Amino acid sequence: MNEMVTQKKLADAQIEAFYHDEFVEDQVRDFGNLNDADSGGKAIVDIGGGCGFFARSLTDVHGYRTRVLDMDTRSVAKCHEIGVDAELGDALAPVPTGDEDVVCFNLILHHLVGKNEAETRRLQLQALKAWHGKARRVFVNEYIYQSFVPHLSGRWIFEITSSSLLSAVGSAIGKVVPALRANTFGVGVRFRSNEQWRELFAEAGYKVVGHAEGKPEPISPPLRGLLIKTIRRDSYLLEPTAVA
Ligand SMILES: C[S@@+](CC[C@H](N)C(=O)[O-])C[C@H]1O[C@@H](n2cnc3c(N)ncnc32)[C@H](O)[C@@H]1O
Repeated sequence: MNEMVTQKKLADAQIEAFYHDEFVEDQVRDFGNLNDADSGGKAIVDIGGGCGFFARSLTDVHGYRTRVLDMDTRSVAKCHEIGVDAELGDALAPVPTGDEDVVCFNLILHHLVGKNEAETRRLQLQALKAWHGKARRVFVNEYIYQSFVPHLSGRWIFEITSSSLLSAVGSAIGKVVPALRANTFGVGVRFRSNEQWRELFAEAGYKVVGHAEGKPEPISPPLRGLLIKTIRRDSYLLEPTAVA
């Protein structure tokens, strides 16, 4: 059975919260360290590249030719304002032009969520597989949630943020305990452990050829209640194995 799975998308106001360049320095540093090869004049394409800060910086720091693809009209306009080539498009149905060298997924995969875990997995695989055989490499920067009970925290966060009932309860608690506020309440967000992301990459037909582990972020006591051991942002460089 291969019926269409639809992404549960964030509202404009929720996407607005991502109009910042807080994580770009780490992403550009990791990209430079992991992807040492010359792009041969081909493009580095940033899928879900938002306002274009990563693309702008990759060009300024490393001289790469870059392009952004994002589903948010205002983000694409912001890219153009800072001189970044950008187009409106869907990470789940991209149209490769043949000039792609490395395709980047910076903090977007965890937003590709469906109605349940199975649908979410299919969407994340679909976005990665779309570039199999089309780009030489794939760069991923993602949130890593390691739990005291393996893999549990990311799954709990997904179940809470994707359920309207649990999200309503979460929002009410978040008013009193700010550490429990989530921008993704009602839509869902799917963070995974390092092992789970690697499993997903393998299933999509990629091998990990480079990995940069991010610094552990502070975890507030209320969040520890979700059995979170470590939160960090890691980068992975992937190469296709076989046609997936
Ligand atoms: C958390 S922001 C990340 C922005 C930037 N890459 C960064 O690392 O700061 C997620 C971005 O993915 C975009 N996005 C989400 N789903 C998408 C889809 N299906 N196709 C294209 N862009 C998408 C959003 O519009 C948003 O700009």
